[in-house]
Amino acid sequence: MKVIKNKSECRKIVETLKSGGNTVGLVPTMGSLHEGHIALIRMARKECSRIFISIFVNPSQFGPGEDYVKYPRETKKDLGLAESEGVDFVFLPPVSGMYGNNHRTFVEVEGLGKIMCGVSRPTHFRGVATVVLKLFNIIPAHRAYFGEKDYQQLVIIKKMVKDLDIDIKITSSPTIRESDGLAMSSRNRYLTQEQRKEAVIIYKTLKWARREIKSGEKDLKKLRAVAELKILENRNIGTVEYFDFRDAYTLEEVSFPPVHRKMLIAAAVRAGTTRLIDNIVINVKK
Ligand code: PAF
Repeated sequence: MKVIKNKSECRKIVETLKSGGNTVGLVPTMGSLHEGHIALIRMARKECSRIFISIFVNPSQFGPGEDYVKYPRETKKDLGLAESEGVDFVFLPPVSGMYGNNHRTFVEVEGLGKIMCGVSRPTHFRGVATVVLKLFNIIPAHRAYFGEKDYQQLVIIKKMVKDLDIDIKITSSPTIRESDGLAMSSRNRYLTQEQRKEAVIIYKTLKWARREIKSGEKDLKKLRAVAELKILENRNIGTVEYFDFRDAYTLEEVSFPPVHRKMLIAAAVRAGTTRLIDNIVINVKK
């Protein structure tokens, strides 16, 4: 496994690999790798002959007062894991190597970045889209892999790729969960023991909402209100930022009968200062 810090070296390697007939896969990460990332790497391994991962805690996707400084950085452990998973190349740039002093260009996927998580994190998705486009330019892979836990991010990246004619296939893999159902996330480690125990309510409530819809409930306003109550019964969870029912393709708010058959049920909550998100996608009859 080779670790590359320099952008132009990275691009050259990708070009050489591609002209040698390889299929190149990219798994972009912010490091602190967990089983969710490993699932993406394994998926990439199956479909590609050479695998890149990038490890970069991207400052432009953190807002003022967010956890950029305390975000876990565990490069040594990550490199060991990547190597044992058969990753071929790790792109590990310094912040100054990714963003020059006078960086002024940002990618905004209009509308999609301002709803759901974008309400409390108004510059987050612009930072994500910008760094992901930069990564696609530095590592022009055939395929790139993203987790479905960050569902809004996935929809935004797919839209950017389509709108800007980027020649890369986006593939996603299902959310990996702890044994009690909590979605794996690098931020779970911020939780106190009590918060960690109660955090399972998010997935439980998403599944409850799915059951209600499957058994014919169409009053989404009522479902949302009850879901919020269920979550807030847990004393260590302080706020429900949203509990939304949306079209799984467009992220538009759903009303029955939905336009598409796939509906996203997504939630964001705060436990203390830790923000947790989760979602499930369900098939609904028209
Ligand atoms: O999902 C993440 O880890 C990040 O948002 C990403 C896609 C690597 C961009 O920094």
